[in-house]
Amino acid sequence: MAELQEVQITEEKPLLPGQTPEVAKEAELAARVLLDQGQTHSVETPYGSVTFTVYGTPKPKRPAILTYHDVGLNYKSCFQPLFQFGDMQEIIQNFVRVHVDAPGMEEGAPVFPLGYQYPSLDQLADMIPCILQYLNFSTIIGVGVGAGAYVLSRYALTHPDTVEGLVLINIDPNAKGWMDWAAHKLTGLTSSISEMILGHLFSQEELSGNSELIQKYRNIIAHAPNLDNIELYWNSYNNRRDLNFERGGDITLKCPVMLVVGDQAPHEDAVVECNSKLDPTQTSFLKPGKLTEAFKYFLQGMGYMASSCMTRLSRSRTASLTSAASVDGNRSRSRTLSQSSESGTLPSGPPGHTMEVSC
Ligand code: BEZ
Repeated sequence: MAELQEVQITEEKPLLPGQTPEVAKEAELAARVLLDQGQTHSVETPYGSVTFTVYGTPKPKRPAILTYHDVGLNYKSCFQPLFQFGDMQEIIQNFVRVHVDAPGMEEGAPVFPLGYQYPSLDQLADMIPCILQYLNFSTIIGVGVGAGAYVLSRYALTHPDTVEGLVLINIDPNAKGWMDWAAHKLTGLTSSISEMILGHLFSQEELSGNSELIQKYRNIIAHAPNLDNIELYWNSYNNRRDLNFERGGDITLKCPVMLVVGDQAPHEDAVVECNSKLDPTQTSFLKPGKLTEAFKYFLQGMGYMASSCMTRLSRSRTASLTSAASVDGNRSRSRTLSQSSESGTLPSGPPGHTMEVSC
């Protein structure tokens, strides 16, 4: 944290007595390099300690991108492929990222003692204010996958003023019904926890294809030293309450939302149903096939990405997306990405706050 605070004030701070501009610049550069490698912190919360890793330099008046990973993964295995993808560089240059590890999922986490009461997903959401307070961030753009998407949605429902946008990948907002429980119990009789979690992360087609990627994740999960902790997070996920999104009701996400689901992903139906429960006048569909490009549109719609950062294709699409081009630093909450039909053509039609992406 000390490093983070120093960087936050370096730009406006006068030189220390006896400090040359060169030394000050070197110190700033060193701090930036340190931050770019990620700084891991832990804070105590009413539900135990939580670990998170911060990348990038905080930008004044900008929300942090806060990520929450899925079951069976940690922030690195879940988000490294996305955030280190070349096309993401424009985004990461503009935002500090706070990657939360669910308790017991951080690298090197000790196994919880027998009988340890793992937090519910609602309690995991209630830990987030402690992180934001510690880092002194007032608002976030949340990016969550699976269980992490649920946690961030719950957080957004209880703290709507602090969430500027949400990217929800493979969210299932419903509690398990008795049919799901019966199926879950039956699967549990014949499958290991790691296979059940793989069935949550990947489609049956992907699993039976047994590609290198599947083998990699199968190996990571089956041999995880904290597999017992992973099982606790898995149990909390399976015991989640219904988020109770209500079309036209009070329980709804107030911020712009980008819903993402992979074609034939295990959660495709759940995401589609989630979309149907959000306010239809604020709902858009988009199938660009490229998550990073869609993310850029989304941030631009919120007024955070200069159009010069967009690809040529994005720029021409964006011109037809919005009546007023968003310029960095000139935000308007009313400007949003608008909608396309399921055909995959790009948006035309009424503006909305929720966008569904299938990739
Ligand atoms: C990031 O730059 O945000 C990042 C780096 C490594 C792993 C995950 C995220």
